[in-house]
Amino acid sequence: MSVDSHIVRQQFRVSYEYPVAFTEGIFDPKNLILRDTVTTHEKSRRHRVVVIIDGGVSASWPDLGAKINRYALAHGTSIEILGEPIIVPGGEACKNSTKFVDELHGEFAIRGLDRHSFVLVIGGGAVLDMAGYAAATAHRGIRLIRIPTTVLAQNDAGVGVKNGINAFESKNYLGTFCPPFAVLNDVHFIDTLEERDKRAGMAEAVKVALIRDAEFFEWMCENSHLLARFERSAMAYMIRRCAELHLRHIATSGDPFEYGSARPLDFGHWAAHKLEVLTDHGLRHGEAVAIGIALDSAYSVEAEFLPAEDFDTICNLFEDLGLACTHDLLGQSGDDGRLLIQTGLEEFRQHLGGELTVTMLTSIGTGIEIHQISDHLLQRSVARLLQRRQAA
Ligand SMILES: NC(=O)c1ccc[n+]([C@@H]2O[C@H](COP(=O)([O-])OP(=O)(O)OC[C@H]3O[C@@H](n4cnc5c(N)ncnc54)[C@H](O)[C@@H]3O)[C@@H](O)[C@H]2O)c1
Ligand SMILES: [Zn+2]
Repeated sequence: MSVDSHIVRQQFRVSYEYPVAFTEGIFDPKNLILRDTVTTHEKSRRHRVVVIIDGGVSASWPDLGAKINRYALAHGTSIEILGEPIIVPGGEACKNSTKFVDELHGEFAIRGLDRHSFVLVIGGGAVLDMAGYAAATAHRGIRLIRIPTTVLAQNDAGVGVKNGINAFESKNYLGTFCPPFAVLNDVHFIDTLEERDKRAGMAEAVKVALIRDAEFFEWMCENSHLLARFERSAMAYMIRRCAELHLRHIATSGDPFEYGSARPLDFGHWAAHKLEVLTDHGLRHGEAVAIGIALDSAYSVEAEFLPAEDFDTICNLFEDLGLACTHDLLGQSGDDGRLLIQTGLEEFRQHLGGELTVTMLTSIGTGIEIHQISDHLLQRSVARLLQRRQAA
């Protein structure tokens, strides 16, 4: 006897839109970007806002809370700040347990946030990820305004559609895809960042230029002396262009919520993630990405996709920016004779799901996806990189 089944096909589309602003003096009452953002949908209402600040940012900008209150007072018909800013520890510490997410959920409940209220979070990528996850999961989504304060957060981590915290020894294991209400970048925040962090964030700009925009890569080469000393207008342009290219990819790749196996914006990242773990996070993410990119550029040469001069140009740019292209761990093998970093490939595949997909270069500005990495070519790529260091 056949079973009588009936399938109703559900289908609908949702379109997303959010502004990513680049400004200076964001809490100067004369700067109307924040007020206009909050009043986007309801011009004449007073909007309720909870402020969360990264502990590293509040230590460097001790009067930030008072400044925000003055701003809210100057725009009192549009903005109501609910209570004192919530300060959370900066960096990965805030993502390593559910503690701070739970605390934020409690505060949202006590302060009476509803789905039309705003969570305004100011901080590095880690705090944005953690607070974004808390906002996305309270009331099934409270409006989130991000104010990123590091180079990496302004040009990459803070402008996209993801959030999350680490769990079960896996990075970003708990998280959601949830576009923000707005992202407001103020380049002045970068001033108080450690030099090492300023440099590290530039690796993401090199990355996206290499796979998407040869002209931007050339601009970075021509302006590397300005970027190396963090000249403000060069930094501002580098951040803006990098953010734009990330945004364009999310909007036009056809896979904003990463259902597929390819992730071109993770160019250079399989080895980078592994190096971060192998060094017990002694390397900053961007520092590891620079090495990962140099390695995959060397592989692109060994696989005869990319001319060897391009590999040299890429390494020269990193070095001009003060970023190393090699690391001692690259050449080290385990008991099985395979390179230690090689397990990073399977971990990367698992993280993305599906078939292994790694981006390589066919020229500066153009990537190509491949699905297999040969042990032999990888060893030659490592040798090419290490030789470069010996030659220097
Ligand atoms: N959601 C995404 O799409 C995405 C993408 C890439 C990276 N990320 C995440 O971003 C995180 C890394 O972010 P990050 O590189 O911005 O570093 P971070 O958030 O770890 O911050 C680094 C340090 O700088 C401090 N800090 C931040 N801004 C400062 C300022 N203006 N002045 C002084 N100190 C300041 C912080 O307190 C912290 O101690 C990782 O957790 C990573 O997983 C997320
Ligand atoms: Zn990255």
